[in-house]
This record gives sequence, C-alpha cells and structure tokens, in this order.
Amino acid sequence: MRAAIILAAGQGTRMRSSQPKVMHHLAGRPMVQHLLAACAPVFQRIVVVVGPGMEELAAAVAPHATVVQQERLGTGHAARIAAPLLEGFGGDVAVLYGDNPLITTATLERLVAARDAADLALLAMRPAEPGRYGRVVLDGAGQVARIVEHADATEEERAIPLCNAGVVCAAAPHLFRWLSALRNDNRQGEYYLTDVVAAARAEGLRTTAVEAPEAELRGINTRVELAAAEAEIQSRLREAAMLGGATLTDPGSVTLAWDTRLAPDVVVEPHVVFAPGVMVEEGARIRAFSHLEGCVVRANAIIGPYARLRPGADVGQGAHVGNFVELKAATLGPGAKANHLTYLGDVTVGAGANIGAGTITCNYDGVNKHRTEIGEGAFIGSDTALVAPVRVGARAITAAGSVITEDVPEDALAIARGRQANKPGRGVKPRRKS
Ligand code: UD1
Ligand code: MG
Repeated sequence: MRAAIILAAGQGTRMRSSQPKVMHHLAGRPMVQHLLAACAPVFQRIVVVVGPGMEELAAAVAPHATVVQQERLGTGHAARIAAPLLEGFGGDVAVLYGDNPLITTATLERLVAARDAADLALLAMRPAEPGRYGRVVLDGAGQVARIVEHADATEEERAIPLCNAGVVCAAAPHLFRWLSALRNDNRQGEYYLTDVVAAARAEGLRTTAVEAPEAELRGINTRVELAAAEAEIQSRLREAAMLGGATLTDPGSVTLAWDTRLAPDVVVEPHVVFAPGVMVEEGARIRAFSHLEGCVVRANAIIGPYARLRPGADVGQGAHVGNFVELKAATLGPGAKANHLTYLGDVTVGAGANIGAGTITCNYDGVNKHRTEIGEGAFIGSDTALVAPVRVGARAITAAGSVITEDVPEDALAIARGRQANKPGRGVKPRRKS
C-alpha cells in the first residue's frame, strides 16, 4: 500500500489568474487531474493539500481527501498537515507538487522501486536552464547529501547541474518524523520539504536520486510554461493516437483532448479540434477545420470540412455531415446526410434521410427546448424550417422553403410556403412618366 500527498495550496501568483494554478486546463482538464491520473496506478491513497477558499479544486480532485493549508508556510509545512489524514498508515508516502502534471506513471514506478533500495528516493533532472530550482548535492558515494534551495545556495552550489524536481518518497513513519522536526531558519523563512533529505542522512539512512527527463519534471508557474506543457501533452496524445491506428495527416495542427478516442483507420485532416468526450469509430473521416465535443462518430461516417459537432451529437454509420453544419443533441441514423449549412438540435434523424441545404430545427421557443423527429428515408427540402415539437414521417418530403409547424405523415409531401404569382411584364422597371 502506498500513498501520495499532492501539494496544491499555492495560488500561483505568476499565472495572474483568479483560479488556483492547478485548475488551469491541459488537453481539456485541470492539470491536477493529469497528475492524479499518473499517480492512480502507483498510489492507492491520495491526499491533496489545498489553500483556503479552493472549493472548486477540492471538488475537482474528489473523491480524494483534501486538507486545507490555512497559511502558506512552505512545502514542508504543507506536507506535514496531511499527516493526520494518513494516521496509522505504515506504507510508503510520496510527496508531489500539483504544478508538475507531466510526470508519467513509468517514472513514478521507477521512484518507488528505487525507494525499495534506499530509505528515501527523490526525482531529479538536469534542465537546460537550472535557474531557480533547488540543487541536489551528492556525497562521494553518490548518495544525496542534501538539497539546497536556490535562494540559500552558494555560487558553487548554484553551478550544480542536478536539480530537485520536487518529488520525494519514504516510509510514512520516517517521512512524518522528519517533517515534524523541520525548521524555517532559512532565507525564505519557510519550512522546506527538501530538508527531509538532510534529516534522513543525519539519522544515517540511505538516500538516492532517480533522474528523469526535464520534459516530464518541469513545473508550471506561468502561462508561457502552461503553453509549453500543453504542447508536450498534445504531442504525447497525437503519438498515441497514431500508434493506435489513426492517420493524422498534419498532426501538429490537430488538438486532442485527454480522453479523445480514435479507432483504427480513422483519418483526421488538418486543423481539427477535439474537445473532451469524443469517440470516433473505425474508418470515419474527420475533414479539415471541424470542431467536435462530447459526441460519437460511427464507423465510416464523414464529418466536415468545417463541421461543428456539439455535445450529444451521434452520427450514424456511413452518415455524412458537411460544411457549416452544426449538430447538438442530434442522432443521425446510418447513411443519413446533412451536407450543407444546417442546424440540427434536439433531433432524431432516421436512417438514410436527406437533410437539404439550409435546414434549421427551430428547437427553442425562448423558454424551452423541443424535439424534432425525422423518419427513415425522409427528404427535407432545402431551407426547411422545422418548428419543434414536430415529426416528419418516414419517406415524407418537405418542399423547399417550407416552414413545417405540423406533423407530416409517412410518405406525404408537405408544402408550407407562399404560392408563387407571376405578373407578366412587371419585371421591367416602371418608366418614369415624362
Ligand atoms: C520547489 C522546491 C525546489 C524544486 C522545485 C521544483 C521546496 C522548498 N523547493 O520550489 O527544490 O526545485 O519546487 O519545481 O520544496 N505549496 C503549498 N504550500 C506551501 C508552499 C507550496 O501547497 O506552503 C505547493 C505549491 O502550490 C506548489 C508546490 O507546493 O504546487 C511547490 O511550491 P513552489 O512555491 O512552486 O516551490 P518552488 O519554489 O518551485
Ligand atoms: Mg514551483
């Protein structure tokens, strides 16, 4: 049994945001949820340390337990206040920072494996620009002697390339003993989590550093770093999608969400955006400049170019949704077609139905939403307005330009438009009386 304490009480001043830093999104979900997902296979219990007034964050990490750090007295203090929630816990405990969402499960596995061979294991990296990171000071035997914070480091220590990533792991009784003895007599007047390393060594215990790539261990402090993290996550998601059998013709221009599911032989053309909750089945093609969210695209369907699928869209097998077509809570049966300039909201379209250009479901009366039902094989003429609630029967036809306010029976033709009147000669401009 292992536990993780995730520190997320900081407001993240450098984000210049009204939200807590770890609530900022990466690939469609808060960064803290990426970290929780990486932790889930390794740690059976997770406690998140939040700041005062961060109810939204507490809700986002539920069902994991949270504890509020009232005063921001340092990373060591934050870890210590999680102790009562892990009272009597005898396994290993890792402490992680919520602003480190790129860590992979594989790296966490290496950390806990290293902890089996030492009393304390930590993650370290060699960043291109070590900047303000804490430096990992090794002794002659290759063990970690201590970590020195940048603010407290000498010039010589600042020249050390090995940096502290901010993840430590030790047996719970050790860790909480070290944490309770921390002092804050340093440059920043904070209780440093990093001082547990020196505490372990003072007791003659073994310490070790596990190195991992900077791309995984980089912290996020600004929106610039947030964008860099997004780029890293996107490239991982695109790679996984392609290795899973989807073709991305211009991967760099496609935005995926953390949960996008693309089946084998799906083709995604350039500049497509997947917001969360999208599943695309085998052989479907998502053409350029389409935007999809919370929807299902069934096998061999064709979407776009320039289509918008909003939550609740379900496009049937082999169906076509063309340019400038918007779907919301709309089920299209197999082989149905809506190819041009159409809004379909709160609608069920039967198999093989054809929705003409410019068709609009008038689903909202200003107060309530109403449903439209279109039967199998129906033909909706161009520029039909379907005033919901309304049903068009199977194989029925609506004449172009109709405003359909009443149900149309099966096999019927509905015409609901003004009759045309031709006035001979009246096309010529009336001549001025001279
Ligand atoms: C910390 C490490 C540093 C390491 C770096 C890696 C310490 C003392 N220093 O520095 O060695 O190189 O991370 O990114 O640990 N937090 C709380 N409560 C607090 C203080 C912080 O919850 O009282 C949380 C923050 O929300 C954040 C995390 O702990 O998620 C790290 O705090 P931060 O202030 O960013 O530490 P760094 O100065 O980056
Ligand atoms: Mg930081």
